[in-house]
Amino acid sequence: MLFTTLALSALATSTLAFPFNKIEKRTADRNSNKPQASLPLCGPDTVTCRCPPNSFYQTSSSYAFWPVASSEITRLTSNFLDTAWFGTSPESTEGNGTVVGAKRHLRAELPGGKNVELIVEELTELKFYPNGGYWMKFQMGDAPFWYEKQRRGDWGLLAGSWDIVDVREINGMTYMLWDIHVCFMDSYDLGGFHESGMKNLTSILKAQGKMPQDATMIGPITF
Ligand SMILES: *[C@@H]1O[C@H](CO)[C@@H](O)[C@H](O)[C@H]1NC(C)=O
Ligand SMILES: *[C@@H]1O[C@H](CO)[C@@H](O)[C@H](O)[C@H]1NC(C)=O
Repeated sequence: MLFTTLALSALATSTLAFPFNKIEKRTADRNSNKPQASLPLCGPDTVTCRCPPNSFYQTSSSYAFWPVASSEITRLTSNFLDTAWFGTSPESTEGNGTVVGAKRHLRAELPGGKNVELIVEELTELKFYPNGGYWMKFQMGDAPFWYEKQRRGDWGLLAGSWDIVDVREINGMTYMLWDIHVCFMDSYDLGGFHESGMKNLTSILKAQGKMPQDATMIGPITF
């Protein structure tokens, strides 16, 4: 009851103070009720952006720490054409996996997809830090990509994806951040995929004797 009264009087006060004529003018303008229209189209920059029609913005960031030197995570993950650590191997590749411009053609099962599709990803930035670790950016190389869905006559769209991977050694531990934003027609478990790749790194490090069997990773944590 008290809340209702307070809310009502707050509303009354703010309504009285409101510049009505400005509001009317803005709603008369066609775009004023679509403020997103003024945003830049989504691209490699991690800024608030607008996806093309038939797709919507999704983003995810995951990180983990391992008790190993950064050279170990760099060895397993920095070659763009070597994707074994997240459970796949490219159907074909172009270029050199540590040189910008490299491309990987990956088989992918897409939401509701009728067939397994081939997606192209392109390495757009790669910088190795002096003390191990690296910074990488990559993106879909064949966007917009339309694919046939199981339901007859239905199509799905991947209008773009932009990834950042950052690997750094901090106080004897190595951290990896994997950030992505996409414009897809359907929702996709981006964080789940990145977390499974990170957990896989732990298994690989242990299998190779680079991480003690009883050691644990911190994470993965998705935010
Ligand atoms: C982990 O890697 C193995 C071997 O490369 C692969 O078979 C498996 O699918 C991967 N799992 C995940 C969750 O990435
Ligand atoms: C890829 O490029 C790196 C850096 O320029 C070079 O050291 C390496 O030999 C190249 N690898 C191949 C397979 O050409």
